[in-house]
Amino acid sequence: MAAIYFSEAIVMKLNAIYIGDCIKILNKDIKANSIELIFADPPYNLSGNGLKWKGNKTGGDWHMVNEEWDKMTAPEYIIFTRKWIEGGYKVLKDNGSIYISCAYHNLAEVMIVLKQFNFKINNIIVWQKTNAMPNMTKRVFTHSTEFIVWAVKGKKWIFNYEELKNINPEKQKNGSLKQMRDVWAMSLVQGKERLKGANGRALHPTQKPEEVLKRIITASSNKGDTVLDPFLGSGTTAVIAKKLGRNWIGIEKNKKYADISEMRIKNTIYPSSLQTC
Ligand SMILES: C[S@@+](CC[C@H](N)C(=O)[O-])C[C@H]1O[C@@H](n2cnc3c(N)ncnc32)[C@H](O)[C@@H]1O
Repeated sequence: MAAIYFSEAIVMKLNAIYIGDCIKILNKDIKANSIELIFADPPYNLSGNGLKWKGNKTGGDWHMVNEEWDKMTAPEYIIFTRKWIEGGYKVLKDNGSIYISCAYHNLAEVMIVLKQFNFKINNIIVWQKTNAMPNMTKRVFTHSTEFIVWAVKGKKWIFNYEELKNINPEKQKNGSLKQMRDVWAMSLVQGKERLKGANGRALHPTQKPEEVLKRIITASSNKGDTVLDPFLGSGTTAVIAKKLGRNWIGIEKNKKYADISEMRIKNTIYPSSLQTC
């Protein structure tokens, strides 16, 4: 599967998963100024209480994300955020974009660090989750949004405005194409798209909708460009990058999730119109 990109100092694997800590791998194994687009879905640092909801009607029992990789103190989390974004800054090309998935838990840290590195913030996309879980505490408004911060390193970023219009499901009143807005209404991953094990439980607790990645990769990269995901999880970014004819690099520290991604990517068909690229 892996093509190899040679440079004087680093032999960089394309279309491959690196297993390990993204902070080390970004610094050691990925060439500086080599990547057009980063999509990052980092730990939001929200795990801890292991809430469960048995008999949830929208897709079986619901278990709140409760993973070791998602538990840091507040000072640890800001240091972690700074280190991986610094690695991302190094590997991005001057026309490169970074999209970072956030919830209200980590939006502030991500924004502060992006500003410290002098990234220009282009949008904060709001993902309105149309099938958000009800709030069990009944003490706050029901959380139904996540955010995707789009930031750029230089002034010549890629933005495929017309292609986005073509894939925008929203239309003008007369049926004609419409600009893509920064509020995206779509459901949490469910049905056939949700990867599940033999016991019916999700194979990854935070699998992102393919539609989110389709919009981001279409917007900010071109065919043949390289898309990097430092927190690959179940491989959503790589799967969509492959479908859209982009090269991809995934980093994942959990071997079990890397294996799930590998299998999912292998089963993804590369469009025949792009076979010769
Ligand atoms: C929020 S999930 C990403 C989910 C992914 N977007 C998907 O669609 O499946 C974050 C992932 O990052 C991994 N991870 C956490 N810390 C990491 C680190 N320092 N380096 C690499 N991977 C890490 C976790 O194992 C987890 O699979």
